[in-house]
Amino acid sequence: LTSQDLAGEHLLVTAGPTRERIDPVRYLSNDSSGLMGYALARAARQRGAQVTLVSGPTALPAPLGVNLRRVESAAQMLDAVLATLPAATLVIKAAAVADYRPCQMAAQKLKKQQMAAPSLALEKTPDILSQIAACKGDRLVVGFAAETERLLEHARDKLERKGLDLIVANDVTQAGAGFECATNIVQILHADGRCEALPCLTKWAVAHALLDRLVALRCQRAVD
Ligand code: C5P
Repeated sequence: LTSQDLAGEHLLVTAGPTRERIDPVRYLSNDSSGLMGYALARAARQRGAQVTLVSGPTALPAPLGVNLRRVESAAQMLDAVLATLPAATLVIKAAAVADYRPCQMAAQKLKKQQMAAPSLALEKTPDILSQIAACKGDRLVVGFAAETERLLEHARDKLERKGLDLIVANDVTQAGAGFECATNIVQILHADGRCEALPCLTKWAVAHALLDRLVALRCQRAVD
């Protein structure tokens, strides 16, 4: 029997990519499969947490016993996250939110006969994680940093800038890590400066390792 060490906690986890519409049939997105976030949702449920999974478009089935809210864009993900946040005690943002979106969505499909190649004006999407961290209260908040260079430097910067308790850093160019891969090679950075390098593990094992760290932080807080 799995230990119920997350009983009494409500985990809010985000997963998958977001899609930012250009027109009714086209969008900007990325290669995120959602595997890591879905693994976290299932693992936390197994350990007794109540779980809300806010998911961008993925091909994955809904995990049993998890409250699944499907969204498409970063704006919709922000709304769903803010609606769930008051009830949440743990927040893990495994979603690969698009950083930019078209300033405007065309109401009709853009037709190539009618114009020269269009240029796409982009604006930043809201940073959901920074907004959560700004009003986190007693919640533990975890982010992910998928990088292609200077991994630890970028991850530490994000942890500090976004006010996180932990950040999971992975180099998405490494074989056995990153998007659409069943395994991941991660380093877990703590707010107190610690950095733990984990071996190549399945995303399921990474999920449990991360939840172990959250349980430990909870216990530490209870003592402090
Ligand atoms: O995109 P970036 O590398 O800054 O993402 C790091 C973390 O911030 C991830 O956990 C991601 O889910 C979160 N994020 C977010 N909203 C954004 C961009 C990123 O919540 N607009």
